[in-house]
Amino acid sequence: MTQAVKKAVFPVAGYGTRFLPVTKAYPKEMLPIIDKPLIQFAAEEAISAGCTELIFVTSHAKKAIEDHFDRNIALEQHLLQRHEFGLVKTINDITPANVTCVYIRQPQQLGLGNAVACARNLIKDEPFAVILADDLIRSNNGCCLADMVAHYQQTGHSVLAVEQVAKEDVSNYGVVEYEDTAKGYIKNIVEKPEVENAPSNYAAVGRYVLSPKVFEFLDQQVEIESGKEQQLTDALAKLLATDKIFAMELNGLRYDCGKKTGYLKAIIDCAMQEPAYREVILSAMENTPCT
Ligand code: G1P
Repeated sequence: MTQAVKKAVFPVAGYGTRFLPVTKAYPKEMLPIIDKPLIQFAAEEAISAGCTELIFVTSHAKKAIEDHFDRNIALEQHLLQRHEFGLVKTINDITPANVTCVYIRQPQQLGLGNAVACARNLIKDEPFAVILADDLIRSNNGCCLADMVAHYQQTGHSVLAVEQVAKEDVSNYGVVEYEDTAKGYIKNIVEKPEVENAPSNYAAVGRYVLSPKVFEFLDQQVEIESGKEQQLTDALAKLLATDKIFAMELNGLRYDCGKKTGYLKAIIDCAMQEPAYREVILSAMENTPCT
């Protein structure tokens, strides 16, 4: 057995330009699926996979994330006076008592690799998860991250979640090349390849369980000095020279909430699961002429 995966990193420093104007002063990770923000779904996934330290790599204009995971005593008292005990529980359950939240700044937008490198001193030599809250995952069979953590703990090898995407979309993702046709371990990963150069259509989605060895290939200082972005994918490709990496196919539905269309689909799909909302959507559709 290897070391337990207790820490999860959430890179949340991005500007969210695709959602302007709402993201001018508001974190894109706080966009709600009806009443729950994307970042809370991500945190719940980490907690149900056994993580107890949530590390948010943040930037200015992200204070709402810190407030969301903190207690709000005035609101609690207000709700208690009105006997709204269910709501008190709802807000207090966001951060269970055994979970700690830590915030660290990413001073410049220098890529996902750089965001992860910012958390290095907090992670030290432990394995850790990375969760991109933009990728909302509804797993068919338990939690996607929990399966990845279990695999790491059995093997000590880094794990990333992959999903087959349409060929024309490969250039939006890190794309893996499997070692052989029996899917599992990979021999390469390329960040956003041209369609004609992509090694496959298996794309990395926003879930990683990583060995701390990856830090050997992420140097925050070098990036700050050069001002160049550093991709996590490139560090993983270098790690492959000395360590194995497993690509686990996603068993569930992923919504790319970094795009307006993916975000809208996530809201509609989630609402359709709730009988009360389902009726509202179906009736709104009936009354909306398609022009
Ligand atoms: C990032 C990663 C990419 C990965 C993707 C998953 O890209 O760099 O390798 O496939 O997340 O969502 P981004 O979407 O931040 O451009």
